[in-house]
Amino acid sequence: MSTAISPTAYNYKVVRQFAIMTVVWGILGMGLGVFIASQLVWPQLNLDLPWTSFGRLRPLHTNLVIFAFGGCALFATSYYVVQRTCQTRLISDSMAAFTFWGWQAVIVGALITLPMGYTTTKEYAELEWPLAILLAIVWVTYGLVFFGTIVKRKTKHIYVGNWFYGAFIVVTAMLHIVNHMSLPVSLFKSYSAYSGATDAMIQWWYGHNAVGFFLTTGFLGMMYYFVPKQAERPIYSYRLSIVHFWALITLYIWAGPHHLHYTALPDWAQSLGMVMSIILLAPSWGGMINGMMTLSGAWHKLRTDPILRFLVVSLAFYGMSTFEGPMMAIKTVNSLSHYTDWTIGHVHAGALGWVAMISIGAVYHMIPRLYGRQQMHSVGLINAHFWLATIGTVLYIASMWVNGITQGLMWRAINDDGTLTYSFVEALQASHPGYIVRALGGAFFASGMLLMAYNVYRTVRAAKPAEAEEAAKIVVVGAH
Ligand code: HEM
Ligand code: HEM
Repeated sequence: MSTAISPTAYNYKVVRQFAIMTVVWGILGMGLGVFIASQLVWPQLNLDLPWTSFGRLRPLHTNLVIFAFGGCALFATSYYVVQRTCQTRLISDSMAAFTFWGWQAVIVGALITLPMGYTTTKEYAELEWPLAILLAIVWVTYGLVFFGTIVKRKTKHIYVGNWFYGAFIVVTAMLHIVNHMSLPVSLFKSYSAYSGATDAMIQWWYGHNAVGFFLTTGFLGMMYYFVPKQAERPIYSYRLSIVHFWALITLYIWAGPHHLHYTALPDWAQSLGMVMSIILLAPSWGGMINGMMTLSGAWHKLRTDPILRFLVVSLAFYGMSTFEGPMMAIKTVNSLSHYTDWTIGHVHAGALGWVAMISIGAVYHMIPRLYGRQQMHSVGLINAHFWLATIGTVLYIASMWVNGITQGLMWRAINDDGTLTYSFVEALQASHPGYIVRALGGAFFASGMLLMAYNVYRTVRAAKPAEAEEAAKIVVVGAH
């Protein structure tokens, strides 16, 4: 097989922009996470102002970490992966640029409107209709750029990572558009097109699949490219990755009702959600094992390569949260965990341990390549970041498990005469130490992001434009 350097180059500009913004939004979103975690320890931090109250800042936190930080990481990596695995430039530079600026505009819109109290009240879909429409337009453009690039690929094969990214793009569009169907009554107020239990079901069909496709499938696309690349090994089983793909996308979509156990939703739908969630363990673990086993024969690299450590530990947390999730979907377990901090612990096992760690690993992998450098400015700082992130995640989730189980047990404790043993405030007081530990864990995680920003800044500052240009040249494998 011969190799030729094509005169055209990859569009790295948009990848660089999204990669840098991943770090920026990561710091802001996680910094805000530490702030709202501190509000739960010291309520005075609500500052007696509506704009800075927990109720308004919490959805801002979720929007910043999921859509701004996670979203930018997904845009950056998907544009990088699709070009490199299809050995072709993005189909349109201007459309790609529009997705960058449009996405940042949506986020800035969230930064302004959410603290002002404009919200649809639907979790993870809070943005009011003008921003929701802008988001839909940006997303459809993203789909056109991504799939258009796949269509004009120079390779015969479509690498499995692109299948995951593709499913994430298509399903996110579907979820967003269906769940946002609403009637606007003013510029910043709309009412959902659905009502009652139907509205709840559609919201949690959206909410769960936002987790399944935005926070999982997209990041699995990342996993399938960056783990083999960083480990310098082929993926453990390509066949398993295809089975993993089809099983995951077939099953995820049915599991939403586990968010609505013991509600007005018909009982059969709740049970269906429970059963599908339990079955979901199989493909989730299949994917995790596929990623982990890619390191067969390369485990020693973990000793010296903190980027690989980020990627592998993220898979361990993915395995952990996808074991915990099916357990929490069992109705009897859910009757204890629901409404408690256990759910928050589960969320952040996935969010910090899986989503953030894999994104951080991927960005560290890409930055030197995008800027024509051999490696990041400081490997020692990546290592320090790794430990801050790992210890921070463990402190966060362990404290929330203790709190969650304490709360669940205290709320259901009953005296012989049928009265409640504990008042709600007593359970809250018992949660206080856990909230302090969580804020500390969050501070660990967020300070790691500051190290990352410094390290990225130093790497970018030392960038060599000529080498970066050379690195962006398309190497067509198999050309004659
Ligand atoms: C420094 C890191 C972080 C800290 C300190 C933090 C803190 C918090 C706090 C205090 C809450 C509210 C919990 C409650 O209402 O009781 C929360 C909610 C949430 N956070 Fe974070 N967070 C961090 C990072 C992240 C990241 C990186 C993600 C996603 C990628 C994320 C996703 C979420 C989600 C989805 C919720 C809502 C959970 C639910 O409603 O069940 N967080 N976070
Ligand atoms: C097989 C995989 C999984 C299953 C079956 C599952 C199941 C569950 C269950 C049963 C709940 C609690 C619902 C409730 O009581 O209200 C939950 C909440 C949640 N999970 Fe998972 N989970 C899985 C994986 C993940 C992963 C990998 C992430 C993150 C990346 C994640 C993010 C969340 C979020 C954000 C919530 C909170 C939703 C809310 O109430 O706001 N889950 N999950």
